[in-house]
Order: sequence, then C-alpha cells, then structure tokens
Amino acid sequence: MKTLKVGAIATGGRGRNAWQAHDPENGVVMTAGADISETAREDFKKQFPDAVVFDDYRKLLKLKDVGAVFISTPDYLHEEMAVAALKAGKAVYLEKPMAITIEGCDRILKTAMETGSRLFIGHNMRHFPVILKMKEIIDSGLIGEIQVGWCRHFVNYGGDAYFRDWHSEQRYATGLLLQKGAHDIDVMHWLMGGYTKSVVGMGMLSVYNRCGRRSEKTPGCAKWDAAQYPPLTQTGFSPIIDVEDHSMIMMQLDNGTQATYMQCHYSPDAERNYTFIGTQGRIENIGDAGTCEIHVWTRRGPRETPDIIYKLKPAVGGHGGADGPIVENFLNFVRFGAKTNTSPIAARNAVAAGVLGHCSMRTGCNRQDVPPLPKKLIEYFANGQIRK
Ligand SMILES: NC(=O)c1ccc[n+]([C@@H]2O[C@H](COP(=O)([O-])OP(=O)(O)OC[C@H]3O[C@@H](n4cnc5c(N)ncnc54)[C@H](O)[C@@H]3O)[C@@H](O)[C@H]2O)c1
Repeated sequence: MKTLKVGAIATGGRGRNAWQAHDPENGVVMTAGADISETAREDFKKQFPDAVVFDDYRKLLKLKDVGAVFISTPDYLHEEMAVAALKAGKAVYLEKPMAITIEGCDRILKTAMETGSRLFIGHNMRHFPVILKMKEIIDSGLIGEIQVGWCRHFVNYGGDAYFRDWHSEQRYATGLLLQKGAHDIDVMHWLMGGYTKSVVGMGMLSVYNRCGRRSEKTPGCAKWDAAQYPPLTQTGFSPIIDVEDHSMIMMQLDNGTQATYMQCHYSPDAERNYTFIGTQGRIENIGDAGTCEIHVWTRRGPRETPDIIYKLKPAVGGHGGADGPIVENFLNFVRFGAKTNTSPIAARNAVAAGVLGHCSMRTGCNRQDVPPLPKKLIEYFANGQIRK
C-alpha cells in the first residue's frame, strides 16, 4: 500500500484535528505543517519531529510528495488556500464553513472540477452519533414524510470564543449565523433531503456590544472560562464587533419542506436542539453529545411521554466522537475512493443559506433566493468527483 504523506495548513487551534491523521503503521504520515504562529509551529514540531514546518503555506504546497492537506485556518483564508492547494494537485480537507461568500465556494468547486484534485469539507456534525441516529430514524419512515425542521442553537461559550478575535468582524467571517450555523443548516438539509432555495432572517447585536473591549494593540484571543457569566460582566472583547449575537432564519427548501434555525450566543446553557416533524410523528434530541437522548412521538399525547426514547452512550474523541471518524473518512476517500458522509455541494448550499440569511437580516428581512449551481458541477460531485 502506497504511503500517503499529509500536510497541515494551520497546526494550531482547529489545526490539531489534522494531527490524528498520522498513522504510519497504516500508511499515513504527517510530513509537513504551516502556521503563522511560532507557538503553533513549535508544538507541531514537538509532536512530529521528522516533519518540515513553514511560516508560509505556499512553501508547503511546493512539496511534491505531499498528497493531501488539511486546511484549518480562519474562514476568510479558506477560499485562497483551498484554490491554491487544489491547483497544486493536493487532495484537500477544508474546514467548514467552506468559504465566507457564495462566490468563494463556487470558485473552490470549479477549481476542484477543473483540476480533478479531491475536495472534502470538514462538516463533522455529519459524524455526530446523535445526528446519524436521527437520520436513521427519519430515513426508516417512522415519522412519515418529513415536512418541518427546527433548530434552536444555544451557545453558552459565545463570549469566550466568538467576540474576542477575527470571528467578531464581518470582513473575516461574514457573520456567526454562517460561522456556526453552517453546521446546522447542513444537518437540516441532510436530514430533510433538500437544499434551501429561499431564506429570510432577523438578527441583532444587542449584548456583547455593551461589554468591555481590549485595545487595538492587544492581540485577539479566545478565552474559555465557564465562570464568565452573565455576559454583561465580561471584558476583553474585540475593538470591532459588527456581527450579530443572536439570529434567526426561516428557510424554504427545494423539496417543499420548511425549516428554521435560531442561534443565541449568550445563553447560559449549550445545546443544538433539533426537532423534525413528519406526517406520522416527530423526533427531538435532548442533548447533542455525550449521554443524550432522542425522543420520538408517533401518537397524539403529551410531550412528557414520547413513544420511543433512544439513549445514546458517550463516544470517544472530539466533538461528540465525530472528529476521529471524519478524518478517517477523508483518508479513505482519498486513498480508496470511499463514500463520504459530507458533500462539497451541500457545504456550498449551507454557506449560501447562511450568507443570504445574513443579507436578509441586514437589509430589512427581505427574501433572498439562492443562486443555482451549474449542472456540470452538480453532476461532477454527484459522480464522486470522477470525470465521466
Ligand atoms: N468542524 C469543527 O468542529 C470546527 C471547530 C473549530 C473550528 N473550526 C474551523 O476551523 C477553522 C479555524 O478555527 P480556529 O478557531 O482554530 O481559528 P484560529 O484563529 O485559532 O486559527 C487556527 C490556526 O490557524 C493559524 N493561521 C492563521 N492564519 C494563518 C495563515 N495565514 N497561514 C497559516 N496558518 C494560519 C493560526 O495561527 C492558528 O494556529 C475555522 O474555519 C473554523 O470554522 C471547525
């Protein structure tokens, strides 16, 4: 079996997810890393002493023997780096959201098709045990024909993670509905079997704009601390915050179903709570990782007494046990042509709903229609990225 040499573009932050790809006994070797942070480069070098490390990702892309790269840099760099990596002939694992504009996503898709380099988007929620179980239940027909999906996204670490660095500015993230919501919009599309064709939204920045700021000279830094509550007591936020701290969108899908997504960054608790209602029942998750449950109602009756309760056990690994399987799925896709849970077309359509949701909420809640993709692109990706 040929060894696959891989590179990590971003070795710190989410870039550490790529580290678990290294598995020399099974023919995958972490060979190179690139990061602008010296600390991130040093940590990587300690873990992989034989790897080469660069401060400029373009140097990594020049290594002919590197066959695949993980791109885990901040969102606004995804388009440039993915296009460059695909053009350099590398298979690409690109973190979500695919890009911060629809045009950026379409450029990445087009480059992948033209170069034939493999493209994979890191939508790890498609490997969350709770999501896989909900999909299995819906696909079994237990709740009938699915009509409606709602997601309430409670984020209790919003002030820790998203208002202290690049995440807080539209120019770097477009907005947090896209940044965080790309995951949930993608999940809803997947479970409901369609893509958003129109979206309307409302959102506001109403809490974190009132908190203490850091000076422009102090570098941005996420600061995780469960004691940081209530939100108005927090300090150290970005000098520029122009993204919403709560938002809501309504989506009309192309298969006639309808969905809503609501996100709040100053909730005291954290959960993605989905419910899907079909012509014969409803399902809802109670908890989204670790020990959690899926409740199913198939008869009329009180909310307190679901007909079936599925109890999920905690899975090992990051993000509810999803991070190991998604890296493995990428490697198997690149090496053996394995099927993937994720889809670049779906990732683009999640970005489209997020970007246009932001557009709606910033322009008087007008309806926004998702621009269709060229048929050629859809066919290429539906065919497993193999040219006919
Ligand atoms: N799928 C998930 O569950 C998940 C979780 C967290 C983050 N993410 C995604 O991962 C990406 C990174 O998020 P993060 O919170 O780790 O961000 P971050 O700000 O911590 O940056 C990650 C790393 O990128 C490096 N970097 C920044 N600019 C660079 C450049 N020009 N060249 C090389 N390296 C550079 C940073 O030094 C850092 O080590 C985002 O797109 C985010 O959406 C995904």
